[in-house]
Amino acid sequence: MEGHDLSRELSRFDSALPVDEARTAPASWYVRSEFLDLERARVFRKNWLWAGRTDQVGGPGDYLTGMILGDPYVVVRGEDRRLRAFYNVCRHHAARIANGSGTLESLVCPYHGWTYDLAGKLKSAPHLGAIRCFDREEFGLVPVRVEEWGPFVFVALGDAPRALATDLAPLEPKLERTKVRDLRFVTRREYTLRCNWKVFVDNYLDGGYHVAHLHKGLAGQLDLGSYRTELYDRFSIQSCGAAANSGGGAGADFAERIGDGALYAWIYPNLMINRYGPMMDVNVVVPLAHDRTLVIFDYYFAGEGRDGITSDFVEKSLVASHAVQEEDVSICESVQEGLASPAYDQGRYAPALEHGMYQFHRLLATDLRDER
Ligand SMILES: [Fe+2]
Repeated sequence: MEGHDLSRELSRFDSALPVDEARTAPASWYVRSEFLDLERARVFRKNWLWAGRTDQVGGPGDYLTGMILGDPYVVVRGEDRRLRAFYNVCRHHAARIANGSGTLESLVCPYHGWTYDLAGKLKSAPHLGAIRCFDREEFGLVPVRVEEWGPFVFVALGDAPRALATDLAPLEPKLERTKVRDLRFVTRREYTLRCNWKVFVDNYLDGGYHVAHLHKGLAGQLDLGSYRTELYDRFSIQSCGAAANSGGGAGADFAERIGDGALYAWIYPNLMINRYGPMMDVNVVVPLAHDRTLVIFDYYFAGEGRDGITSDFVEKSLVASHAVQEEDVSICESVQEGLASPAYDQGRYAPALEHGMYQFHRLLATDLRDER
């Protein structure tokens, strides 16, 4: 798509309309690969992004790695206990230095053995004896901004992101109230979907609209009449009470999972924190291509033995959660096919339910048009 064509497609979304008059973001935003290039530059490199869990980097030498839209990062805790992050790219010939997560004493490139200390400084490089005009100080790892918030590590891959702690301040007491601190990471599941990353986010932000139709098992356990969405500057919170008779019926597996109700927090652009009963699942939506998305599900539970958590409960919860995910995966993939068809361009928002989705599209439009 030519540049002017791209800006015309951006301008076809009108952020100024009230939700009951607005049309959704055009299908081109989801099916043209040029939009993902723009999102890499103006969304993913301009905002704080979830990068990992603080429990992965608790002590000196602990590290974790990840990749977002081709940007590889490594987060490592130094001997001085300070958390640092770098582009996970060797300054010699660009190889990836660290893999996975774990503990190390220094960062050693597997290609030619260039070795960096935990503060990113180049310590040694084999066979450089005869090199001229080389200043080791200039060849440290490229730093990336990093911050811890609750049980999560965030990175900012570009310049001048907003203040993370300020943006998330109103969310903190709400999560705190649900005793997030008492939960422990248990396991991770990953799903790869044949859809644009925004399709998955949209599905999440429809105010519970799809639950009664798509997730019949889950619907029986929720009091959908109590479903509400609250908007904040950079995040939204959806919440819902548990159904009064949630102990029986087809969805009985869900009953003990839901507890008193559910809280679903979405943080722009690609993070979801789902807190219910004695558990929490955190979803990270990672675009792989304009029509391919990885969603990471990290599951946290209250400690075993407390709140009746047993390995059997964990297993049952994961099975029930997987069933919901399968339903979402198949609907998201069908949406992507529909978006690519000539039958669809822009849809509408259900005013009382889908204002969270409209907020997402407005935030995106602001970033993509570089209006900040
Ligand atoms: Fe769903």
